[in-house]
Amino acid sequence: MKAVAVFPTRKQVSVIDHPEPRVESSTHVKLRAVAIGICGTDREICAFHYGTPPRGADHLVLGHEMLGEVVEVGSDVRNFRRGDLAVPMVRRPCRHETCPACRAGRQDFCFTGDFTERGIKHRHGYMGEFVVDDEQFMVPVPPALRDVAVLVEPLTIAEKALLQIRDVQKRLPWTCPVQAAAAGIPHQCHTALVLGAGPVGLLGAMALVVAGFRTFVYSREPLPNRKAEIVSMFGATYVSSSAHDVDALASMVGSIDLVYEAVGAASLAFDVIRVLGTNGVFVLTGVPGRKAPISIDGELIMRNLVLRNQAVFGTVNAGRDAFEAAIADLSVFVARWPDAVQALFTNQLAIDDAPAKLLDGRNSIKDVIRYA
Ligand code: BGC
Repeated sequence: MKAVAVFPTRKQVSVIDHPEPRVESSTHVKLRAVAIGICGTDREICAFHYGTPPRGADHLVLGHEMLGEVVEVGSDVRNFRRGDLAVPMVRRPCRHETCPACRAGRQDFCFTGDFTERGIKHRHGYMGEFVVDDEQFMVPVPPALRDVAVLVEPLTIAEKALLQIRDVQKRLPWTCPVQAAAAGIPHQCHTALVLGAGPVGLLGAMALVVAGFRTFVYSREPLPNRKAEIVSMFGATYVSSSAHDVDALASMVGSIDLVYEAVGAASLAFDVIRVLGTNGVFVLTGVPGRKAPISIDGELIMRNLVLRNQAVFGTVNAGRDAFEAAIADLSVFVARWPDAVQALFTNQLAIDDAPAKLLDGRNSIKDVIRYA
């Protein structure tokens, strides 16, 4: 079958002929690709910033965002049948008996760092026509989401953040939007600020609106622009950093209860952390490239963290709970804002056209390889 691969030593990205994976265990599920998403991580791997082939291989098949249709199942598979839709998860556990996270099936919290990730770290990914993996790493998707469920994986980043925010804010003995939304009760409106208007930022902003936050998206592109239009379609407000610095943003927005960072720029993150509100939470999801050290007002930030009861955490990857939450939220997005969801899809590609788009993602939000 055709697959998109990166050759780190040769510094090459190309479509290769790759052996079609086969069902080899009784718990294996084989998927035929319906759609495969291209994301910032794929583009960074193609720029050779990271990405590691399986041991002994000179190339890595890319891709970790996939929606597939089940074409074959092993004899012990219980939860999937031919024709079902599924999204495969990304991370696989480390082997260490001493890693409680991986032993509990929560490799997204792996302690040892010896986890693997499909299409990213030591395992081939999903950018080919077929994928085989164990049932335990597949999440079922309802047929109604066939056109959009390739967005599930990038949405899981925000969903894992929201699940943790809910836990952190249990410390506040009154109802916060995320708890209220989860319980299905009306809530008071809190303010969330999303940094970045890429797919992780926009999907995160949608999830925050659904969770009941008054949501702002802060991004570089000046107004008017397409991303700002999409933001207004789902009821959030776009603010351009080219027109408003962080202090102007803060006076416009008021007290900020939550910051969801989805850019990977340390200078922006630590500029915005200064204006986080009382009892606020700051969540980091972006991975910065290694640039020169930046200077920050550490005294002010630490003072605020203490005197305002603030919490800061980073989050990576996602467990099954976040995949299930993403599937539930995606149904809500499609019901409320079908045009905004469709507008996230910028280019629909054939696999042969993927290398060019991986190398040049200008003007893209979510580019997707689609199979008929
Ligand atoms: C993926 C995560 C992965 C992370 C780091 C992201 O693009 O969505 O699943 O853990 O990259 O490799």
